Amino acid sequence: MLSKKMEKAFNDQIKWEYFSAYLYLSLSSYFQSLGLPGFANWMDVQFQEEQFHARKMFDYVLEKGGKIQLQGIEAPQHTWKSPLGAFEFALNHEFAVTKRINDLVDLAQKERDHASAIFLQWFVTEQVEEESNFGDTVNKLKLVGDGGGLFMLDRELATRVFTPPATAA
Ligand code: FEO
Repeated sequence: MLSKKMEKAFNDQIKWEYFSAYLYLSLSSYFQSLGLPGFANWMDVQFQEEQFHARKMFDYVLEKGGKIQLQGIEAPQHTWKSPLGAFEFALNHEFAVTKRINDLVDLAQKERDHASAIFLQWFVTEQVEEESNFGDTVNKLKLVGDGGGLFMLDRELATRVFTPPATAA
C-alpha cells in the first residue's frame, strides 16, 4: 500500500514523464522542420523512452494498490534558437527531472516506504544515462558548430533505436 503523500508524488511524476514525452515530440518536430531527420529520430526515440518511464511508474502505483489520477499536460515549447540551444534546453530539463526523482527518493525514505525507494533506484540510474546522453550531444554540437559537421552528427543520431530497457519485465 502507498501513503497518500507517496501516491500523490507518483501521480505528479507520471504527469511530468508524459510532459517530457510531449516535449521531446515537440523537439522532434523542430528538428524535422530544420531538415535534420537524424536529430528528429533521436528525439522521437526519447519520446518513446519517456512514455516507457511514465508507464513503468503507472504500473507500479497500481501494483501497490494506489490510485492513478492522470493530470493535464501543459503545451511544451515548440521552437528554439538553434540545434545547440534545443539540446541545452533538453539537458536542463533532464537536470530538473533528476532533481524530481531525488525528491521522490527522499520522500520514500521519509515515509519509510522501502519498496518505493527500491523501485525508484531504477530511475536514479536511468537519470545518469539520460544526462550523459544529452550532455554528449551538447558537447558534440559545440565542437561541430553550424557547418558540415552538423550533417555528420545528423547521420549518427539517425541510428538511435528505441529498445525497451531490460528491467521492463
Ligand atoms: Fe524520464 Fe528523461 O527522464
